[in-house]
Amino acid sequence: SKERTYIMLKPDAVNRRLIGEILSRFEKRGYNVVGLKVLTPSRELAEAHYAEHKERPFFKGLVDFLTSGPVVAIVIEGDNAVATARTMIGVTKPQASAPGTIRGDLSIDVGRNIIHGSDSVESARREIGLWFRPVEIVDFKPVDHAWVYEK
Ligand code: CMP
Repeated sequence: SKERTYIMLKPDAVNRRLIGEILSRFEKRGYNVVGLKVLTPSRELAEAHYAEHKERPFFKGLVDFLTSGPVVAIVIEGDNAVATARTMIGVTKPQASAPGTIRGDLSIDVGRNIIHGSDSVESARREIGLWFRPVEIVDFKPVDHAWVYEK
């Protein structure tokens, strides 16, 4: 069924100019981009996003990294978007991610794993609410543009 998931291109992806490469994979797969913006997150926002990792030894480094430069915040919509996006992304460790996945093709470092994707529908709802205001998400309706070319 139709779902929305929160995808984030981390500062390493933006630095490496991989925005188009990664976005195009979701579009080509058949997903719609219904929210999209570039921003450098505040510490408060980064800490809220990663709240579940607050007690981990890598938490401070993770927040330092996320706030180090612009990220691309994305809402992807389509059938089974949450789980399919996770499959497309690969696993947390890029070196364990299969070729063909985003991490498996584009990264080797767990601390610089280029992309985030919500791990459940509930997480997606929470994360989308954290990163987007409702007016920043569009109601995507495919339009038949064939009339432009007909006559
Ligand atoms: P992500 O899937 O976005 O969610 C948690 C993040 O923590 C994960 O990506 C990694 O970027 C980061 N992370 C996990 N384990 C480590 C680690 N051992 N060292 C540094 N960062 C980590």
